Amino acid sequence: MSRNMKGIAALAAVGAIVLAGCSTDREGTETEESMSATAAAGGSEVCIEEGATIGVALPQKTSENWVLAEELFNDGLTEAGYQPIVQFGNSGVTEQQNQIDAMVEQDAQVIVVGAIDGSQLGTQLESAKDGGATVIAYDRLVKNTEAVDAYIAFDNYQVGVLQGDALLQGLGERKGEGPYNIELIAGSADDANSIPFFEGAMSVLQPEIDSGNLVVVSGQTTFEQAATDGWQAENAQTRMDTIMSGSYSGDTELHGVLSPNDTLARAALTSVDQAGKDTPVITGQDSEVESVKSIVAGEQYSTIYKDTRELVAQTIDSVNALAACGEIPINDTEQYDNGVKIVPAYLLEPTIVTQENAAEVYANDPTLGPLTE
Ligand code: BGC
Repeated sequence: MSRNMKGIAALAAVGAIVLAGCSTDREGTETEESMSATAAAGGSEVCIEEGATIGVALPQKTSENWVLAEELFNDGLTEAGYQPIVQFGNSGVTEQQNQIDAMVEQDAQVIVVGAIDGSQLGTQLESAKDGGATVIAYDRLVKNTEAVDAYIAFDNYQVGVLQGDALLQGLGERKGEGPYNIELIAGSADDANSIPFFEGAMSVLQPEIDSGNLVVVSGQTTFEQAATDGWQAENAQTRMDTIMSGSYSGDTELHGVLSPNDTLARAALTSVDQAGKDTPVITGQDSEVESVKSIVAGEQYSTIYKDTRELVAQTIDSVNALAACGEIPINDTEQYDNGVKIVPAYLLEPTIVTQENAAEVYANDPTLGPLTE
C-alpha cells in the first residue's frame, strides 16, 4: 500500500502549508520553513561548486511535459551558471542507466532523475552518492534505494483524486442519470507514478462501483488489468479495441473512461469512435495541446495542469540551495515511501481543467494561452 488514510489527511495539510506558505504545524511533521532534505549521506552539509555539472536524466518523450522540461532545464541551469547535461533515455532502461553512469564519471554534483523504471536505478544512483552527488527524483519517485535525497513532483495521488472527481462530475453533466458504464485505463507499471494516479482515482470511483452506480462492463478493475505498457498510445488503443468488441457490442453504451493522461485519452477516444459509439466522458493529464483543443471543443472532458515551468523552477531552486550550502526545501515527509525509506518531498498542487475553467487556467501559459474560441 503506497498510501493510507493518514496520507490523505497529510495531503490536506500539505495543501494548507503550500497555499498559505505559513508555518502550520501538525503532529509528526515540521513547519515548512524548517523542512528540508539533508542532502548528503550521514547528514553532513553539501555545498556544490560554482559552475558545477548538473545531470538531468529524463525518460522517453511519452508526453509533452518531458520535452518542455528538457528545454527548461537546459536554459534555466545554464542561466544560473551551471553546466547542464540533459538527456532522454529514449531506448529504455539500459540507456538511462548508462547515461547516469556517464554523468557520475563527468563529476555531476547533482543528478536529477525522471526514471523510466523507478526500481532499476539503485546501482547507478548508489555510485552517484558514493561519488558525493546529490540525487533528486524529478516527477517520478525512485524506488527501493537509499540513494535518493529528495523528491520534487506534483502530488500524484491528488492527480488521481481530481481525475476520479472529474469523471463523476462529467458523467452527471453529460450522460444524465446513472448507472454509468465505464472503463479504466492506468499508466505504465514500471513508472512509480502510475499506482498513486490509479489509487487516487479509485479512492473516488471504488465506492461508486461498489454501490452499482458505476459499472466496469469489461470487468477489468485491477491496476494490472488496466496498465498500459510504456505509456504507449498504441497499447491503450489495442486494449480498448478488444474491450469495445468484447463488451460493447449491440446497444451497450460506454459512458465514461478513466484515462491517466492525455495521450492515452486521445488513443481511447479513437478506439471508441472507430467502434461507432458516442464520445464518452474521459479524463486526462498534462494539458497537451491537442487535448486542450479537444476540451475546448467539448470532446475530452478534463485534463490536469501540472505547469512544467513550476516543477523545473522548484528543482533549480533546490540546486541553488545546495550551491548556497543550504538544504533542499521540502514540504512533505510522510507520503512517499520508496520501499526502503520515506523520501522527503516537495509536492506541488495539480489543477483540474475542464471546458469551464480552461481559459482562466491557461491565461498565463505561453504554450497554451490565451485561449480563443
Ligand atoms: C507523468 C505524467 C505523464 C506520464 C507519461 C508520468 O510519470 O507524471 O505527467 O503523463 O509520465 O509521460
